[in-house]
Amino acid sequence: MPVLVFASSKGGAGKTTAAIVLTCELARQGKDKAIDIALIDADPNQHSAAWANKPGKPKNVKLFGNVTSENILETIEEAQSQAAFVIVDLEGVASTAVIGAMSRADLVIVPCQASQNDAREAIKTIKTIKYSCKVSGRNIAYSVLFTRLSAAIITKTAKALANDFSEADIDLFKCSLIDREAFKSIFSYGGSVYDLEETSKREGASIEKAADNARLFAAEVKQKLKANLDR
Ligand SMILES: Nc1ncnc2c1ncn2[C@@H]1O[C@H](COP(=O)(O)OP(=O)(O)OP(=O)(O)O)[C@@H](O)[C@H]1O
Ligand SMILES: [Mg+2]
Repeated sequence: MPVLVFASSKGGAGKTTAAIVLTCELARQGKDKAIDIALIDADPNQHSAAWANKPGKPKNVKLFGNVTSENILETIEEAQSQAAFVIVDLEGVASTAVIGAMSRADLVIVPCQASQNDAREAIKTIKTIKYSCKVSGRNIAYSVLFTRLSAAIITKTAKALANDFSEADIDLFKCSLIDREAFKSIFSYGGSVYDLEETSKREGASIEKAADNARLFAAEVKQKLKANLDR
């Protein structure tokens, strides 16, 4: 079962948010088909686990919390035997746990905000992925995902960075995660953007746009997994 690893050496790049948005969307799509999603939280800060421990976690999401370098490989294996998708949220460092998780990934997603410093960190993370390829003897697919983009405009910096990634032959998601209050709110209230209706309408979170964004993101993840399998 595919393993999707969220990694970036940059703290606050948007790993946990993107991981939970994808977890919720895959769970929503799989709930009537008995498709389970495993969520592995291997960040000592346990932000994904904190979300999962709030009310509203989809029933078909199974949390594997407090995962460390000691047990990450076994946990991924166990999660693969139990779930259709395995999502791994990592700490913003290059550690043994990070290199280990990458070594088992079908796709490493590198969240990156559209700034020069973040792009530099994304390149560093890709070097760590390449190191993990050497250690594991596997070719590991990876893609950069722009996060926290403005809904209103595509900035010049974002365009220039997309161009730089393309010239460096680094795959970039066509979609990006837009900066939306709804993506913040799920960490306060639990559940997915669909559960926010009541509370967040009052706070102005655009549920439908966030839900559309999550669907686009999940669709592109599935496309990339399929393309990598076909290759
Ligand atoms: N698409 C988004 N829309 C709105 N806020 C976002 C979005 N993505 C991330 N954020 C906010 O940015 C901050 C950092 O995001 P997040 O925790 O997902 O990053 P991270 O890479 O997991 O960080 P860490 O390295 O500390 O684990 C959080 O406050 C989060 O709410
Ligand atoms: Mg995080």
